[in-house]
Amino acid sequence: SGEKTHGVCPVVHGANTSMEKPATRWWPDALNLDILHQNGARTNPMDPDFNYHDAVKALDFDAVKADVKALMTDSQDWWPADWGHYGGLMIRLSWHSAGSYRLADGRGGGGSGNIRFAPLNSWPDNASLDKARRLLWPIKKKYGNALSWADLILLSGTIAYESMGLKTFGFGFGREDIWGPEIDTYWGSEQEWLARSEERYDDLDDPSTLENPLAATHMGLIYVNPEGVNGVPDPMKTAAQIRETFARMAMNDEETAALTCGGHTVGKAHGRGAVDNIGVAPEATKVDQQGLGWSNPGQHGEATNAYTSGIEGAWTKDPIVFDMGYFDMLFGHEWEQVKSPAGACQWEPVNIKEEDKPVDPTDPTIRHNPMMTDADMAMKVDPIYNAYCQKFIADPAYFEDIFARAWFKLTHRDMGPRANYIGPDTPNEELVWQDPIPAGQSGYDVEAVKAKIVASTLSAADMITTAWDSARTYRGSDMRGGANGARIRLAPQKDWVGNEPARLAKVLAVLEPIAAETGASIADVIVLAGNVGIEQAIKAAGFNMDVPFRAGRGDASETMTDAESFSVLEPLADGFRNWQKQEYAVSPEEMMLDRAQLLGLTGWEMTVLVGGLRVLGANFGGSMHGVLTDRMGQLTTDFFVNLTDMGNSWHPRGDGTYEIRDRKSGKTKWTATSADLVFGSNSILRAYAEVYAQDDNHEKFLRDFIATWTKVMNADRFDLSA
Ligand code: HEM
Repeated sequence: SGEKTHGVCPVVHGANTSMEKPATRWWPDALNLDILHQNGARTNPMDPDFNYHDAVKALDFDAVKADVKALMTDSQDWWPADWGHYGGLMIRLSWHSAGSYRLADGRGGGGSGNIRFAPLNSWPDNASLDKARRLLWPIKKKYGNALSWADLILLSGTIAYESMGLKTFGFGFGREDIWGPEIDTYWGSEQEWLARSEERYDDLDDPSTLENPLAATHMGLIYVNPEGVNGVPDPMKTAAQIRETFARMAMNDEETAALTCGGHTVGKAHGRGAVDNIGVAPEATKVDQQGLGWSNPGQHGEATNAYTSGIEGAWTKDPIVFDMGYFDMLFGHEWEQVKSPAGACQWEPVNIKEEDKPVDPTDPTIRHNPMMTDADMAMKVDPIYNAYCQKFIADPAYFEDIFARAWFKLTHRDMGPRANYIGPDTPNEELVWQDPIPAGQSGYDVEAVKAKIVASTLSAADMITTAWDSARTYRGSDMRGGANGARIRLAPQKDWVGNEPARLAKVLAVLEPIAAETGASIADVIVLAGNVGIEQAIKAAGFNMDVPFRAGRGDASETMTDAESFSVLEPLADGFRNWQKQEYAVSPEEMMLDRAQLLGLTGWEMTVLVGGLRVLGANFGGSMHGVLTDRMGQLTTDFFVNLTDMGNSWHPRGDGTYEIRDRKSGKTKWTATSADLVFGSNSILRAYAEVYAQDDNHEKFLRDFIATWTKVMNADRFDLSA
């Protein structure tokens, strides 16, 4: 028409190109299923048949390691290496990538390359790590699909240490990249970066009151504030915070001391220039910055002027060598509290000889004071950390070994069992934090085992719930838990309330002898019995379908099991068995959603499992909530049919449970929890419930139930693909 569109946005107004979520904006209380559907096939640019574990096996490992090593000393003008060595920067990249891991839910950590995406790529604590990834890009580009970012990022710190003289403990490849931000990980509710710590503690003087599952003291930090609690220097207080935050990433006091001291044996902190000079984070950059954040306008290509944390200086005299220099410095001097050139709180030695000072990263004729952060001072003033430091000082070889092991644990903690490690440098030694499981047998007569199970006195519900309970602990976040190993028969799992210890003991007393008689593992027999129970329930519903079974699970022993580290796997709620241990701030359906995400289930998989398990009578303690059928024990679609039937009405009982009544007569037909009714109330879950309520889909329901059940039973079978 020739009319000007001046002032009118040419983009169709309905198009939603921002991060805003239209549904949750107006109805924030609706259960948001997005976490089940993140990082799906549609976000992944690899070919559908691409398998990273296969691809990385073809990698030329020696060539990659040589290239990473050469990169360390190949200083680039756009971000020059301190003392001509990128080791410190690469180690910090690895550590910050791995260090977001938290034990409570297994989320975070470096296993997925998540540091490439928001929010982690732009956390204030990750300043300048975008430079490290850009330095690594030519290597990523060269080796392509055979080398994931996640592997390269953790390899870079490991090779950095090797090139600085540390004998490392080994390295396992095999971390598969994701292609967008993780949306399942709760990083805190603060609206402001580095908000005061009070926001996430009930009582700041008691570090154990840090909100679960968080492990960092501030929004946007990996661990503690380097300047002190809330930025106020006090190494004793900082020590208490370090103890809690490192425990939350599965590190004990000795590992924590080794990591902190060994970490700061190399590299330096960057705090020249004013704080407001650093530039915006990558996610906030303009297009002409190409995602390179923290542009450091005052730097002008000189290592000396770089700004990162605001703290300034090296910890040791020779920051590009892995040596005992950190201990010499920390314990050989008295320290006083000062401000860095950028105004950050740090500690400097009172009286240090000129020749003991490190030289300037660019100009070797100039020497600067070394420094310690409040976290470093904590290693000296806290009696427990101090005692470990004395042990390290007395025996440098011991320190090197403890550090190398702790570094390996830090960088591999979220990779699951050793079956997932690939490459020539995977250590032979088995470590208890890997939750080892001995290799199982698959050569026994499965049909003979099945026959014995069928002949036993166990009910289908007992067999199904025991198999479910043994498998449901699996979490994809750090690949721990699951049915393999049969740890359900060991402490602490055998005593967890959610496992109904008395019933469990009764079932195991029947299944264990069957395993002993047939040569099958107990882990296999538990799963096989669950399958038998389901096949019986399918038959009872008038169908004939097999539940597939893969033999070969092993049985772990008590000595292979760090009982304490398993406590985090205890289910506190299980929507699939309509149970929760106590009342929580979050609803049962939210906890069910969280568990479904950890199990790797989609929305429809969660739906089909819940609906099936309800009519099988698999509820905790024999509860009848949500058993919307009058033929319990048959694998029917009754849960969905009755939930979607307008002949019923729904009534809260005031105690968190509900009655489902016949709309006409008012007669109560069933009771339910919100973890039942949500499948009718939430528009997305209702859409799935309708699929399974349809007259034409009983057989599809059975197929989908079997497939999803099998997926859960095999979720931890890394041995199958290895
Ligand atoms: C650098 C704090 C633990 C390895 C730094 C910097 C700070 C810091 C403030 C300076 C960043 C900069 O301005 O460039 C802390 C705190 C820790 C901790 C509060 C908790 C106790 C660790 C651990 C490791 C590590 C466990 C590794 C095992 C490093 C390295 C650098 C560094 C290698 C030097 C980076 C470079 O040379 O560019 N740390 N850190 N740190 N940190 Fe830590």
